[in-house]
Amino acid sequence: MTKIAVVYHSSTGTTEQLACAIAEGVHTTAGAEAILLKVSEEAIRQGRYIDGEVMRQLDCCDGIVFGSPTFMGCVSAQFKAFMDATSERYGRRAWADKQAAGFTIGGSPSGDQLNTLQTLQIFAGQHGMLWMGIDLPAGWDSAGRNRLGAQTGLIAQRTESGGVHPQDHLTASYLGQRFARHLAR
Ligand SMILES: Cc1cc2nc3c(=O)[nH]c(=O)nc-3n(C[C@H](O)[C@H](O)[C@H](O)COP(=O)(O)O)c2cc1C
Repeated sequence: MTKIAVVYHSSTGTTEQLACAIAEGVHTTAGAEAILLKVSEEAIRQGRYIDGEVMRQLDCCDGIVFGSPTFMGCVSAQFKAFMDATSERYGRRAWADKQAAGFTIGGSPSGDQLNTLQTLQIFAGQHGMLWMGIDLPAGWDSAGRNRLGAQTGLIAQRTESGGVHPQDHLTASYLGQRFARHLAR
């Protein structure tokens, strides 16, 4: 069984909805299972994220998809606290060669979400992970997926009613499916 973790932070639930859609996509691939790991705000004390169980679960996965809302043009402070807490694993190459991907959502169509994705990509690179982007060509997909046209990962925009756009949901599901299919190969 291929095990994939989706680790994310979410304040108002939109990043969480995307994380669930990615897990749905993973589960369409035979032999793949997804686990959802939320970066809990309660696990951050005096600026330090401490949750050994989340870290242990990540150690056991074949691939990890990282997700954060875009806050002030970057990952949320909560997600950054999680990132910093992985430094001991960086030192001993614990996640090297695992597959990685990333996703983010912002309130604007171009609210500097790319910087968040690139932060996640660099983070994965620091760990020696293998980054996977999105191969859907923007504007060419019959289902309208990848509507905001990012190839580095999933960029989404919150709807006016505060939810997730249906096309962003479909793109998230596709990312999970692609991620699982490649890992199975
Ligand atoms: C402190 C803060 C900073 C934000 N900064 C940005 C930003 O730089 N770019 C953007 O597009 N949206 C920004 N937003 C909007 C959030 O990214 C958006 O509401 C997102 O859907 C929140 O994700 P969540 O529901 O998972 O918490 C910001 C929101 C907050 C609260």
